[in-house]
Amino acid sequence: MIQKIKELLEQTESFTISSLDELEQFRLKYLSKKGEIAQLFADFKNVPAELKKEVGFEINRLKQKAQEKYDQLKESFEETSASSDGSDLTRPGEPLELGSRHPISLVRNEIISIFNRLGFTVAEGPEIEDDWHVFTALNFPPEHPARDMQDTFFIDKENEIVLRTHTSSVQVRVMENTQPPIRSIFPGRVFRNEAISARAHCIFHQVEGLYVAENVSFADLKQTLLYFAKEMFGEKTQIRLRPSYFPFTEPSAELDVSCSICGGKGCNVCKYTGWLEILGCGMVDPNVLERCGIDNEKYTGFAFGMGIERIAMLKYQVKDLRLYFENDIRFLQQFKSAY
Ligand code: PHE
Repeated sequence: MIQKIKELLEQTESFTISSLDELEQFRLKYLSKKGEIAQLFADFKNVPAELKKEVGFEINRLKQKAQEKYDQLKESFEETSASSDGSDLTRPGEPLELGSRHPISLVRNEIISIFNRLGFTVAEGPEIEDDWHVFTALNFPPEHPARDMQDTFFIDKENEIVLRTHTSSVQVRVMENTQPPIRSIFPGRVFRNEAISARAHCIFHQVEGLYVAENVSFADLKQTLLYFAKEMFGEKTQIRLRPSYFPFTEPSAELDVSCSICGGKGCNVCKYTGWLEILGCGMVDPNVLERCGIDNEKYTGFAFGMGIERIAMLKYQVKDLRLYFENDIRFLQQFKSAY
């Protein structure tokens, strides 16, 4: 009997398989209830008493070894069959690259949050507009060059449907639909027929601001813009207003902020002037209020409009506008931590 056990031990140890069928045959032959090992246990009762201890030990050892062999064969077979279709299920997962916010979104969100703190709400208007909302209601004279196809994209020349050239069109829509007090900002995309270069693009983004109520003065405008400039570019930032002209504001001005890069000392970003122009603004022209159905005897207001790309350029020192539109991952990834 000892001899038989030895033989079985050798057989099981040298067993190899090339399919799951053969593995099952191994189980049936040695480990199953009718297998060789079960048979040995059955024959055990005939073993003479003095040999029982030794034989019992050997049978148990065989059973354990055969079970180990079975487990090992099963495991190795599962491994090889998993890689046979080329996939390795034990490989660690591919790392998932997290995206980041676009710098234009980052700056827009920051502008919105600054004006939210002053009580400005957010509104939006359509990108495809009619002549009335983009030009006529805003006091543009009929012969104004912006009405020319050279400067403006027309969707339908006959019906004067255009891509809006500024977000001031949203001022008109809001004033037509709401009575003062109005205190809102309007972020959005605008379009101009310009050759694309490092400093100009045919698509860009603006944020318009509008405050109409009783007794709104130029001082309110100035204080609002000072607050904005300090929040956006830092507590030390100074502002200056230069007289300017827009058909829809009177008086009109352009806002410069002290150069945040050189602190006003002069550098190539501010062209050695110490100042950077960031937006146009003014008191809403009484004609515009009237055209939008607002009592211009009772109410006054201010408006401003800024380019988001321009502010992002100053904030992140991006020298070429085109980078904002190319979606080159090497550019975008630099804003990962800017959130
Ligand atoms: N719409 C003007 C522009 O695009 C900016 C502006 C907005 C100026 C509001 C005055 C008031 O240049």
